Amino acid sequence: MIVLGIETSCDDTAAAVVEEGPRVLSSIVASQVETHRAFGGVVPELASRRHIEALSAVVEEAIAGAGIAPGRIDAVAATRGPGLVGSLLVGFSFAKGYAWARGLPLAGVNHLEAHIHALFLEDRPPAYPFVSLLVSGGHTALYLVSSPFGMELLGQTRDDAAGEAFDKVAKMLGLGYPGGPLIEKLARCGDPHRFPFPRPALDQSGFDFSFSGIKTAVGRLIERLPSLSEGDAADLAASFQEAVIEVLVAKLLRAAAARGCPRIAVVGGVAANGPLRRRTEQAARECGIEAFLPPPRWCGDNAAMVAAAGLHLLRAGYRCGPESGVFSRSG
Ligand code: KG4
Ligand code: ZN
Repeated sequence: MIVLGIETSCDDTAAAVVEEGPRVLSSIVASQVETHRAFGGVVPELASRRHIEALSAVVEEAIAGAGIAPGRIDAVAATRGPGLVGSLLVGFSFAKGYAWARGLPLAGVNHLEAHIHALFLEDRPPAYPFVSLLVSGGHTALYLVSSPFGMELLGQTRDDAAGEAFDKVAKMLGLGYPGGPLIEKLARCGDPHRFPFPRPALDQSGFDFSFSGIKTAVGRLIERLPSLSEGDAADLAASFQEAVIEVLVAKLLRAAAARGCPRIAVVGGVAANGPLRRRTEQAARECGIEAFLPPPRWCGDNAAMVAAAGLHLLRAGYRCGPESGVFSRSG
């Protein structure tokens, strides 16, 4: 089976062609970063408009890049939610039209499940079960994953997502958008131990997270400093990143230990963060368990992970009908 995947849940317009395996034949991601940069974050109305403008060409490019005739596509998979409703509607409505015009089956994919399916796009996928940390701009959650769609929620953030905290701290430092990669870069020449930011929820036994406290502590510190030198900014970025990573990795390991699970994974946009990747791998080695992280290009939003999740749904007989809609929130 060859599946066309479509992803428009936030600010990336993405299409991919994936065949059974899964094997990625092509993956195109058209970023809207330039559109939203001036606003320091994603503007939902602008995001929907950009998706409308870009999607047809992105789909055509993905099919051409796969080196197949359009008639070889057997099915379509598109993100139904969670995400920005206007953005989701553009991609999902396009997918419905594309599928029905050609008599193809359509699968509606959950964006969070798709992030986990990114683990299966490369050679060394994890065996089930594994405990996965999903860290993105919209979500931070821990799941026990026992089958392609068997995800048990173990804990989640009570306020900001980790990626959102990166973006907000970057904004406070005047770095720009999206903040994650910019904080990571600045942190390289900073001292991660200069500012002892709080490690929220680390002392609590559950698996929930909270990042608004760290973000507020960074804001207060910036206000208190008489001026913010380049060195201060780098130390601040490094100390913030260190606090977030420490909490993420500690909770992930704790959840794996509590469930007696010998495999952990980290997925989502923030999983592209180098120090987080290294710390996860190091911690897993020390505990004698295995760590799995998608390569950075499959961490951020893309349509290959959507098509990979769609392949499972389609094989299991799930189909979306004309009445199917999108949803903004999970659960
Ligand atoms: O998964 P994703 O592309 O979109 C959502 O589903 O939210 O994640 C985007 C988030 C943004 O908050 C971005 O700042 C963060 O991932 N991010 C990073 C890095 N690269 C992207 N955060 C920390 N370090 C990075 N290298
Ligand atoms: Zn995402």
